[in-house]
Amino acid sequence: MLIKIRKSWELSENAVLDEGKYLNRRQILKGLGIGGLIAASPSILSNSVAATSDDPSAHLYPVARNTAYEGGRPLTPEKIATTYNNFYEFGSHKEISKAAQALKIRPWSVLIDGEVEQEQQIDIDDLLSRMPLEERIYRHRCVEAWSMVVPYSGFALKELVKLAKPTSKARYLIMQTFEDKEVATGQRQFWYPWPYTEGLSMEEAAHDLAFIATGLYGKPIPKQNGAPLRLAVPWKYGFKHAKSLVRFTFSEKRPVSFWQKLNENEYGFWANVNPEVRHPRWSQATERDLATNERIPTQFYNGYAEEVAGLYTEIGKKEPLFK
Ligand code: MTE
Repeated sequence: MLIKIRKSWELSENAVLDEGKYLNRRQILKGLGIGGLIAASPSILSNSVAATSDDPSAHLYPVARNTAYEGGRPLTPEKIATTYNNFYEFGSHKEISKAAQALKIRPWSVLIDGEVEQEQQIDIDDLLSRMPLEERIYRHRCVEAWSMVVPYSGFALKELVKLAKPTSKARYLIMQTFEDKEVATGQRQFWYPWPYTEGLSMEEAAHDLAFIATGLYGKPIPKQNGAPLRLAVPWKYGFKHAKSLVRFTFSEKRPVSFWQKLNENEYGFWANVNPEVRHPRWSQATERDLATNERIPTQFYNGYAEEVAGLYTEIGKKEPLFK
């Protein structure tokens, strides 16, 4: 990013307590005999969830955890994941969580257009009721060399692709964030190429790991993390994870994304995590894990090489994949 990395890694006492609360909820479920792939009955938890959120989708969470996706490291305290954010629409610093509350997430709909059999505008609650929701723990590695381990709820992006019915011409999926200068004051900064746009190849979008997050820590995803829906592609740098999406466009042409428009040299289209390829201004060999405050080695494809490296066997021979 075009910003200075602040040294605000320290965990607060509160953060540790919040983490305890999240794990406790899970332990309660286990105690009720709901372990492994947790199929939580919403009624068991609806009281506590309703008390903590006015999001109309709150009754949907928590959802069953898919244990095929585990973080492999301690979970980041909820307090940190929800107060240390990048969301330039609300400010070019990490403390945007309060400002982001100005975002209105109902009514909200997403447009599916471009190379599809038929254009569709879908209401978010309709979409949520049609998608198979599950929880996955993902490692999340920012290009700024910090990382988190977070429990996202949501659905596999390939489910949305199925719903969209792309034509055979579709080669890329472009995802776009909302645009509203009234609430997102960062969008008044005309030198940024709003709206925030990201893209994936169709092969990436159809990969099991590509996920649309609609929840976080067993609750609806907070506004600062990209409510009501954001992308999560954990083998790529975090800037690919476009937030608060309103449009999915299937395209024959590769899009030029937000950061790529700003600085092609530093933020490329593929953005796959690679400890051996430096960002032009800093090393990517290690990262600060916000859960433990320790600097740890960065892994190739953020530790998901076994799952995704095959996507790039041919492309990798032709162009760099790691910017
Ligand atoms: N999406 C939008 N619309 N605007 C942004 O500024 N920042 C990106 C990504 N998605 C960003 C965005 C970056 S740089 C990162 S690292 C992640 O969001 C941060 O996600 P988090 O705040 O949930 O950790």
